[in-house]
Amino acid sequence: MQVLTSSADLKSSQSQRNRIQVEELVSELRDRLKHVWDGGSSEAVALHRKRGKLLAHQRISSLIDPNTPWLELSPLAAWGIYENQVPSAGIITGIGYVSGRPCVIVANDATVKGGTYFPLTIKKHLRAQEIAMQNRLPAIYLVDSGGVFLPKQAEVFADKEHFGRIFYNQARMSAIGIHQVAVVMGMCTAGGAYVPAMCDENIIVKGTGKIYLAGPPLVRAATGEEVTAEALGGADLHTRLSGVSDHLAENEQEALERCRDAIGYLGRARFPPTRDADPLAPLYPESDLYSLIPSSSQQPMDIREIIARLVDGSRFQEFKSRYGTSLVCGFAHWMGHRVGILANSSALFAESALKGAHFVQLCNQRRLPLIFLQNVPGFMVGKRYEEQGIIKAGAKMVQTVATAKVPKFTIMIGVSHGAGNYAMCGRAYNPRFVFGWPNARTSVMGGQQAANVLVTIKQQQLAKRGKRLSDDEIRQQTESVLTQYDIETSAYYSTARLWDDGILDPIETRSTLGFCLDIAYQSPRTDHRQPVYRW
Ligand code: COA
Repeated sequence: MQVLTSSADLKSSQSQRNRIQVEELVSELRDRLKHVWDGGSSEAVALHRKRGKLLAHQRISSLIDPNTPWLELSPLAAWGIYENQVPSAGIITGIGYVSGRPCVIVANDATVKGGTYFPLTIKKHLRAQEIAMQNRLPAIYLVDSGGVFLPKQAEVFADKEHFGRIFYNQARMSAIGIHQVAVVMGMCTAGGAYVPAMCDENIIVKGTGKIYLAGPPLVRAATGEEVTAEALGGADLHTRLSGVSDHLAENEQEALERCRDAIGYLGRARFPPTRDADPLAPLYPESDLYSLIPSSSQQPMDIREIIARLVDGSRFQEFKSRYGTSLVCGFAHWMGHRVGILANSSALFAESALKGAHFVQLCNQRRLPLIFLQNVPGFMVGKRYEEQGIIKAGAKMVQTVATAKVPKFTIMIGVSHGAGNYAMCGRAYNPRFVFGWPNARTSVMGGQQAANVLVTIKQQQLAKRGKRLSDDEIRQQTESVLTQYDIETSAYYSTARLWDDGILDPIETRSTLGFCLDIAYQSPRTDHRQPVYRW
């Protein structure tokens, strides 16, 4: 195996500027994660505790095996949206080990607007279910929710990927053998009542757990019947009379223990994963990444220097290193798993796209998971490149990425613009997981290019009427587009909308992706045979 040797000058003033900038970005990330960690307002948290209930993260800590990793997904969902009043979109999702088996965990946060479902809460819940389906992981729902957030009913109720999709998914998950267990730790009303009802097994906590189609006020309004919440849908009723629940727990800790028991009695897991080799640390420390990430997205990133800090032993068997050099492709081990890596060193050209397509087919044929390190300003534009058929070449890469059957993983490490996002396996191309670095910037094109395009269009429109834009108008329009793009391209804008599964401190990239590769091992092997073309 070839070994990457670093020639980066980490003491240069540029490297030091890079490090300062990335440290600031990582510190901002930590602050924001800390901000959302506790959930809702201090009053809501105090009331929740007074009721003898654990907070959502405490419930998860009690559920998962001690001293095992917990991969939280999209903790900054809804960041800056809904007046920033819905931390983590009111729902905690992630992957953790329960009774020795990795499980997807979905926990409502009742301190955030009663755990109700906003549009992004639903998107996050559905994404967690998708991860369970793709990776064949059991799903555990810790339910404590007032159902849909009623003022936004038009955005959450009736469409294909709205609230009803959660239960549709539960049925489909069950049909493909994905085990699901619910623990009812609070309110579970209306449609939400189907969450425990559609699980294989569910546990309800005495006193606080409630399941009903309509709560006492609605029953009174609809039929005039006066009934207490406990009599209408409490733990005693559901475990003794209705049979909606299977186990009554005296308190939350006991309920979580019953859940661990339920997972412990599932059939044998394909876990722990068989790695291809023992994980081997890279030759260079991951902390060097801070000095290697350019402080401006205009500066080039030396992608081999980055790869040398991520892969086992910094060993990288490069493929076609002399051809299509704007895309670097090669084989490596990542925490003991053999993988194929595609990483950008600049824009995609026709040759680099063809090389990428060839490499994706090779990995697919060899059943090697694919890792995409996206830093792609887009495909090269211009007459010369159109003549070379860059669209045909790009289409081949997009096709092979879309149809590859091996697990795919994408990390946004820099810019991601235009069709480069698609060819390098952006969210729409179904990677198992997508993460971004805090410096990542995603948009259809760079802000300056968008501003130039829009000014040109305006000028052409006005020219037809014999008018022109003044210098001041050009400056104003340019600044307004730049400001908009600056906000919308940020990693926080992306993660808030679940275009990714979370923002990573770059030095967590290796371990996080290693965990995801372990997880992907759970899914059944599909038939990978497809021809390999030398394009
Ligand atoms: N839609 C919109 N907002 C809701 C809501 C809903 N379904 N359920 C609760 N909220 C809001 C409350 O207005 C309150 O907002 P505020 O903090 O801005 O005042 C916040 O969530 C907390 O609700 P509150 O009733 O004060 O807290 P609680 O812990 O005592 O009770 C619930 C929480 C969810 C049990 C209770 O609010 C409830 O029963 N809600 C109605 C549930 C329902 O009928 N849902 C049907 C939807 S399908």
